[in-house]
Amino acid sequence: MSTKNQKQQQQHVALQMAVAAMATPCTIKLLLFAIPLAIGFALGIVATLSLVSSTTSSALPGAALGLFFPPPTAKLPSSSPVRARQPSQPVLQVAPAVDARSPPAPDAGISTAYVHAAAVAVPESSEGERPAGAASIKKEEDDDEELISRAAAAPRSVVGAPKVAFLFLAKWDLPMAPLWDKFFQGHRGLFSVYVHTNPAFNASATDQQSAFYGRHIPSKEVRWGHISMVEAERRLLAHALLDHSNARFLLLSESHVPLFDFPTVYSYLVNSTKVFVESYDELGGTGRGRYKRGMAPAVAAWQWRKGSQWFELDRALAAAVVADAVYFPVFRRHCTRNCYADEHYLPTFLHIRHREAAAKRSVTWVDWSHGGPHPSRFTRMEVTVDFLRWLRGGTTCEYNGRTTTVCFLFARKFLPNSLTRFLRFAPKLMGFG
Ligand SMILES: *[C@@H]1O[C@H](CO)[C@@H](O)[C@H](O)[C@H]1NC(C)=O
Ligand SMILES: *[C@@H]1O[C@H](CO)[C@@H](O)[C@H](O)[C@H]1NC(C)=O
Repeated sequence: MSTKNQKQQQQHVALQMAVAAMATPCTIKLLLFAIPLAIGFALGIVATLSLVSSTTSSALPGAALGLFFPPPTAKLPSSSPVRARQPSQPVLQVAPAVDARSPPAPDAGISTAYVHAAAVAVPESSEGERPAGAASIKKEEDDDEELISRAAAAPRSVVGAPKVAFLFLAKWDLPMAPLWDKFFQGHRGLFSVYVHTNPAFNASATDQQSAFYGRHIPSKEVRWGHISMVEAERRLLAHALLDHSNARFLLLSESHVPLFDFPTVYSYLVNSTKVFVESYDELGGTGRGRYKRGMAPAVAAWQWRKGSQWFELDRALAAAVVADAVYFPVFRRHCTRNCYADEHYLPTFLHIRHREAAAKRSVTWVDWSHGGPHPSRFTRMEVTVDFLRWLRGGTTCEYNGRTTTVCFLFARKFLPNSLTRFLRFAPKLMGFG
């Protein structure tokens, strides 16, 4: 045990050193948020040029962790079409530094017969490429109850080489898929992908070479701030639990981007002693004010917690969430009007049942600095090398008992038009692509 801790610490120091080399001073943060867009654009050009002319050590974090992964070889799908603008949102006050708002999906009927990849373990193959159709595809009646009970009965411990399950909770398509495909390339057998989207979305056009091919699960309509969002999250968790190699479960949106290469993300998550669920007690209208008295005695007001929707769980906790027949029904019944279950169910459940499990922070960065019901959305011009460097190392936090500057592995919300910038910066800055 102590040897393991020591090793982890050594690795961690190495990770810190590697990343510290790339970190930019905190003043960049102020600069980025204070200067007008026009100056930001100019800065972007300068930063871009400086990146192009400088040598970087982008692959270092993964290398420092003693990992070796073969270089990417697969062909990439063409970029996705630009996503439709989001519908208008109800007004909601959200405290800064919490991201849990995801806009509503367009209205659509509920489909019950979606072709999907059943969450059967994709055979561990060393060739690094998935042949088309390797994921088992079957047509299945969408039955949440049956799915949940099968998942709840799945083994609590990981079978085989641990995989990270990337759970995409999307409103429609995945505009950043080409970036994610580069991120995943060459790491087959160490990850799995599940996509929940609007039931009206036709996923059959997905490129067969893409990691997203055949990975859409039977989905139901999701409404912003509604319990249906938590139901979709549970549906994703349940599908992922059926693959007994999935060890860590990460919730992402279509506007998420990775900030590090796969080996860094993988080891950070798989070796973490805590799960990355944000959780805090907030007094006032947007915190405890959302608690409903009808939830007592299962949930008392003082047990009510709030946190970012974008969670990361280990296998035991993912199974505990899916198997929860006590708190979730209480939320479904009482967390209705002005309640926003997606910001409260998981933090509250963990606080009551598994208090020490959470790191109480999210690995997804979002910008709530401007206030209001939704975090900032970033367009192409705002994606600069300095901004990305700051996202990767401009904050300090704790990881396995040590202080680190690698706090955020992902960031949102990035608009589809920023994809080309990420594709351009990824190889030198993030070590993939
Ligand atoms: C989905 O799109 C494919 C073509 O990409 C088409 O052949 C198929 O009929 C569509 N399915 C539905 C249900 O619209
Ligand atoms: C996790 O840490 C252990 C040592 O504590 C190490 O042997 C292993 O390679 C690490 N795993 C990853 C994926 O980094």
